[in-house]
Amino acid sequence: MCGVVGYIGDKEATSILIDGLEKLEYRGYDSAGLAVFHDGGIQIRKYKGRLSILAENIAEENLSSKLGIGHTRWATHGEPSDRNAHPHTNVAGNIAVIHNGIIENYMKIKEWLIEEKKIQFKSETDSEVIAHLIDHFYEGDLLQAVYKAIDKMEGAYAIGVICKDEPDKIVAVRKDSPLIVGIGEGENFLASDIPALLKYTRDMYLIENDEVVLLTKDKISIFNALGQEVKRDVFEVTWDAQSAEKEGYQHFMIKEIHEQPKGIHDTLMRRLDKDNNIILDGIKLTKQDLEKINKVYIVACGTAYHAGLVGRFAIEKFAKVPVEVDVASEFRYRDPFVDENTLFIAVSQSGETLDTLAALREAKRKGARIMSIVNVVGSSVARESHDVFYTWAGPEIAVASTKAYTTQMIAMYLLALYMGRTKNTIDKAYYDQTIAELKTMPDKVQQILNHVGEIQQLADAQFNNESVFFMGRGVDVNVAHEGSLKLKEISYINSFAIAAGELKHGTIALIEDGTLVVAVATQHHLFEKMLSNIQEVRARGAYVVAVAKESNKEVEKTSDIVMYIPDTMDELAPVLSIIPLQLLSYYIAVARGCDVDKPKNLAKSVTVE
Ligand code: F6R
Repeated sequence: MCGVVGYIGDKEATSILIDGLEKLEYRGYDSAGLAVFHDGGIQIRKYKGRLSILAENIAEENLSSKLGIGHTRWATHGEPSDRNAHPHTNVAGNIAVIHNGIIENYMKIKEWLIEEKKIQFKSETDSEVIAHLIDHFYEGDLLQAVYKAIDKMEGAYAIGVICKDEPDKIVAVRKDSPLIVGIGEGENFLASDIPALLKYTRDMYLIENDEVVLLTKDKISIFNALGQEVKRDVFEVTWDAQSAEKEGYQHFMIKEIHEQPKGIHDTLMRRLDKDNNIILDGIKLTKQDLEKINKVYIVACGTAYHAGLVGRFAIEKFAKVPVEVDVASEFRYRDPFVDENTLFIAVSQSGETLDTLAALREAKRKGARIMSIVNVVGSSVARESHDVFYTWAGPEIAVASTKAYTTQMIAMYLLALYMGRTKNTIDKAYYDQTIAELKTMPDKVQQILNHVGEIQQLADAQFNNESVFFMGRGVDVNVAHEGSLKLKEISYINSFAIAAGELKHGTIALIEDGTLVVAVATQHHLFEKMLSNIQEVRARGAYVVAVAKESNKEVEKTSDIVMYIPDTMDELAPVLSIIPLQLLSYYIAVARGCDVDKPKNLAKSVTVE
C-alpha cells in the first residue's frame, strides 16, 4: 500500500526512483510521482495511473538530478488523480513531501492552516497538510521543522521530505508505517520496502517507530523521538534480488504458488531436529507457561485470518486449549476478554498490517503473552511480540497471498503439536505420525503442481461465471473461505464461502441452474454429510467441482469434476486442498484478462486502518 523511495548520491536520481517504485508496484497503487532537485529548484511530476505513465512523461525531458523522492499512492483521502498524487508541496513549492499512511487529525490541522495561514489547498489529501505544517515551522533547519510538524500529527506515517534551501539532505520519519534506509558508498537510499533497494545495496537500517532519519550522500543519522541520535545495527538482507523477480513466470502469483514446496520445506525443517523434535529456538514457551495459558486468541486479517482458522483447529485438536479466532479490525474494538493467562497469536505475512498491529498492542496492554507468526524479519509485528515464529516463505510480491498462507498453516501445526506434546495432550505415536506426514507435504504439493493442465482446462471452461459458491465441513470450510477470497480478489467474481451444513438455512436459495459450487470434501468423518450437501445443490442445478483425496473415488458419483489431492491425514488436508483452489483462481483470473498481481483496489500491505 503506497510506496516510498528516496535517493541521494552522484547517480541519476530519477531513474533510481522509477526503478525503486517499479519494485514496489506489487504493493498496489493508483498514481505515481516524484520530486527532484533540478535547475536550482524542486521539480515535481505526478500522474494518475500506472508508473509507466510517469516514466513516459519524464522520458522526453532532462530532469537530471542527484537527489529526489518518489511515491506510488493508494488513495485514502481524495480520489486517484494527478493533483492528489504525491509529492505534495507547501505554497512556495520549496518543500516537497511524500507520505504513506493516514494523518488522522488532518482535518483539524487543515482548518487551522486555512483560517490562520490562509493556505489554499491544492489537493483533497490528508498528506498535503504535512508540507504546509513543515513550512510553518521552517526557520532554516529542515530537521527541526520536521520534528515540530510531527509533534502536531496523529496517525500512521512514513514520510520523506526535501527542501530547496537544503539541497543536500532528505529527512524521513517513521510512525507505524514501514521505512528502511539503504546504505551505499557516497550514496544513500530510502524506501518503504526492501525490494526497492536490493539492486543497489543489501545493507539496510530498519527504522523504528517515532524515529527521524537525516540522509546526506555520505551519512545516515537516526534520531529518536527526543532528538537523540541512536545507533542501529546494519540489517543484511540475505535473500537474493532474484527472489523478487518473476524468473520467467507470467506473474508473481503463479511463481509463488510454485514456490510452496520450498517454503513449506524450509518452514518445517528449520524447526525440526534430526529426531523430529520441534525446536522453538528463541521462543520461550515452557511447560509452566503453557499450563498457565487457559485461552488462545488468534488474530489476523484476510488470508492470514484464514490460516488462523486452521490454527484454531490444530491447537484445539492437539493442545486441547480453547481458541478464538478474530479479524484484527473487530478484535481491537470489542474489549476482548484478555488477561495474563491468554496467549495472543498474531498472524501476518508483512508484519505491517495496521489492524493486526493495533490488536496486538491492545492484547499486550491487557497483559497477554504475545506470539506472532510473521514472514518479514524485523517487521513491526515481529518487533512488538514477545515471541516470533518466522515463516520461511521468502518475499511474497503478488498481492494475493499464497505461499505465505501455506507456510502460516505449517507454523500453526508445529506450534499446536509442540503445545500438545509439552502439555502431554497427544501421545508420542500420534505426534510422530503427524510430523512424518507433515514432512511429506512439500512432495505432495509438488504432485498437485505437476498437474496444473487439468485445472487450467477447468478454468478455461468456467471463467465466465459471475458468482461461485465454496463449501466445506470441519476444517474444510476454512479452506473454502480462503479459496473464495483468492477467487474474488483477483478475478472480481462474486464468490462466497459457507459451511455446507448452513446452506439449507438460507443460502441455498441462490443456487440455480449452472451455478458453480466448489465443494471441499477431504474429511473422512464428514464425507457422507458432504455428499448429501453436494446432492442438495446439484438437485437445484449446480455444477459441482469437488476437491477430494485421490483414493476417494466415490465423490465422482455426485460431482461434475473432481480435483484430486494426494492422500494424507485428515488433519493436514488443508495444506494440500488449498493448492487446486489457488490454481483455479489464478487461471480463471488470467482467462478473464485481469491484472493478477495487482488487483484493483487492493494493496499488498495494508498499513492504514
Ligand atoms: C489476500 C491477502 C490479504 C492479506 C491481509 C493480511 O490474498 O493477501 O487478505 O492476507 O491483508 O496481510 P498480512 O498477512 O501482511 O498481515
